[in-house]
Amino acid sequence: MSRTEAEWSQRPRLAPREYVSTQIYTDPDIFARERERIHRAVWKFACHESELASVNDFRTFDHAGTPLVVVRGPDGVIRTFVNSCSHRGALVVREAAGNAAHWTCLFHHWMYDISGACTAIPRDQAYAESGVCKAESGLRAVRTAVRLGMVFVNLDDTAPAFDDYVGDAFEQLEPVMGAEPLEVIQLYRNVVNANWKLLQEVQMELYHENLHFVNRQVAMGAPGYFARKWKIYPNAHGTLEPMQQKYEVIAGWEQRAEKTLPGLKPGEFRIVDLFPDTCIIVRTTVMRIDTMVPFGPDKTLLESRGLGIKGESAADRALRTKHHNQYWGPFGRNYAEDVIAPEAVHRAIKEGGTPYGLFARHEDERGQDDVLVRSFYAEWGRRMGVAASDPKARAVRAAE
Ligand code: FES
Ligand SMILES: [Fe+2]
Repeated sequence: MSRTEAEWSQRPRLAPREYVSTQIYTDPDIFARERERIHRAVWKFACHESELASVNDFRTFDHAGTPLVVVRGPDGVIRTFVNSCSHRGALVVREAAGNAAHWTCLFHHWMYDISGACTAIPRDQAYAESGVCKAESGLRAVRTAVRLGMVFVNLDDTAPAFDDYVGDAFEQLEPVMGAEPLEVIQLYRNVVNANWKLLQEVQMELYHENLHFVNRQVAMGAPGYFARKWKIYPNAHGTLEPMQQKYEVIAGWEQRAEKTLPGLKPGEFRIVDLFPDTCIIVRTTVMRIDTMVPFGPDKTLLESRGLGIKGESAADRALRTKHHNQYWGPFGRNYAEDVIAPEAVHRAIKEGGTPYGLFARHEDERGQDDVLVRSFYAEWGRRMGVAASDPKARAVRAAE
């Protein structure tokens, strides 16, 4: 039976942790609060170390609205700085990536070396009276940690260390990423018309796998699919018990035994969700790291990196790339669907659609249980100071 407007608008008869208000995806004030209380406060995946292969290699990117530059120094150490000139604030590095021993700001030509020190101020004798000097004009350093080849940054100098933040959540990745050097073999950037949390949710709830033709064949038809359990770590990171999938059920696809990544059985699948906006998926011969740069409540840059073995033969690389793209390429059979579905939600709920989203599946914390999404929103609520089930009412009360 359909529902009247009054019935439809009613709060669900569920525990608050079992549903969210769809305002959390669309409200500009909530987005601004997320930026301060979540994105600027936690560790963020920046890039893979293979993207900074040589001394002086750099990359720029925006995180929580702040322009950053990450660079490999002559000592091999990867460092990050706020990419904004100490003089008047201009972007110092304007290329997306490159190699440089020093940077010159285009505006008035202040110069910086790649340790972030200011090395030249043109005609600086005019600052003698005011005391402006190179020694006190370095770039702002941003905390940087490299684990298993992945580079993470944190804008909050007082936040817990990366190891404390991630805890044991990388335990499934250690044998895969710790054995041989890996490198980025594919990089896709998608601007998605959906809130960033809708994109993270598809990595945290596998009930949606009905969406994917290939997942229905390769994963849902394989033994153990529904039995594997989620493991939830402190700070709302999560992993799923590994399972072996059956690629060969798709005509023309192979089981991928030959080039299986270290530490895996043929067909093995692993997934690691890192709060709030990063997901690492291992799919036998390839792996993928997804991260997001939210531009606003309704627009998100989704960056996806495919990884292969560094230095492998051209034939092996071609096979690995094929495996990656069969699933995850722009025309792959899985990836685009995980963009279309969040966009379908966002388009409907941005004004006048369903007021609540349900995360009320309980299957003993097994595959299609919503337990990781509930953990995510418990952490989200703790950091935001409002419940995802009732964000505006609580915010209004807090403001009174
Ligand atoms: S803003 Fe960079 S030198 Fe003036
Ligand atoms: Fe999916």
